[in-house]
Amino acid sequence: MPWRKGPFDLYGVHIDSEWRSDDKFARLLAAGVDFTGKHILDVGCGNGYFLYRMLGTGARFALGLDPSWHYFAQYLALEKLLGPQHCAYLPLTLDDIAPRDFDLTLSMGVLYHRREPLQHLAQLRDTLRPDGHLILETLVVDGDATTVLMPLERYAGMRNVWFLPSVAALTCWLHRLGLDLEYSGTPVPTSSAEQRKTTWSTDCSLADFMQPDFSATIEGLPPPQRVILIARKKR
Ligand SMILES: C[S@@+](CC[C@H](N)C(=O)[O-])C[C@H]1O[C@@H](n2cnc3c(N)ncnc32)[C@H](O)[C@@H]1O
Repeated sequence: MPWRKGPFDLYGVHIDSEWRSDDKFARLLAAGVDFTGKHILDVGCGNGYFLYRMLGTGARFALGLDPSWHYFAQYLALEKLLGPQHCAYLPLTLDDIAPRDFDLTLSMGVLYHRREPLQHLAQLRDTLRPDGHLILETLVVDGDATTVLMPLERYAGMRNVWFLPSVAALTCWLHRLGLDLEYSGTPVPTSSAEQRKTTWSTDCSLADFMQPDFSATIEGLPPPQRVILIARKKR
């Protein structure tokens, strides 16, 4: 506890996590991401929920990286219950190791936690083979290519949020780093249907950090909305 990512059904036990990560996975599939036969890296993989979902849709191998030992413990519990699968987890970041030659690299919900977002994007690019694809999912704000929001302190209660670019600014960052944008989804507002308290995750959740009508965060900042971008590493 708490189980933030899921849900899982394990031998009759339903783990109702804070996040409906299945909603995010459905958005990846709707964006046309094909995992079949791919070697995949998931940077900031949480407890490994998406590793298993990607294997379930045909991925050949999925490696997760995440520095959280809480999530790593949950992954080890899942691994013990599900038995060895074609996936692995290292409790590390791309500052610690530099794995290479993946067909697909995912970074979901990580970019805004990084103080150096362009360095993070360059590290992600370097994990790909030529023509490999980056799947980037992150918080964005409305605006043009000159718009990037840096919260004064917290964003929706979170201390470690640094840069919230517009989709246009993010597109510019990718372009400058040698990544060709191939897909840019419509930003989706995060709702309390997708992120909420459950019996498996009883801490505060989204509704505690939003104005009652969800028009802004408790800090008076734009409400969270998330986008999926897909970019190809140039040859
Ligand atoms: C908001 S969660 C997102 C988890 C999952 N990817 C998802 O989309 O639901 C952010 C995750 O990034 C991890 N994280 C933070 N800094 C990281 C870094 N430098 N490299 C990899 N993961 C990081 C955190 O431990 C946390 O599990």
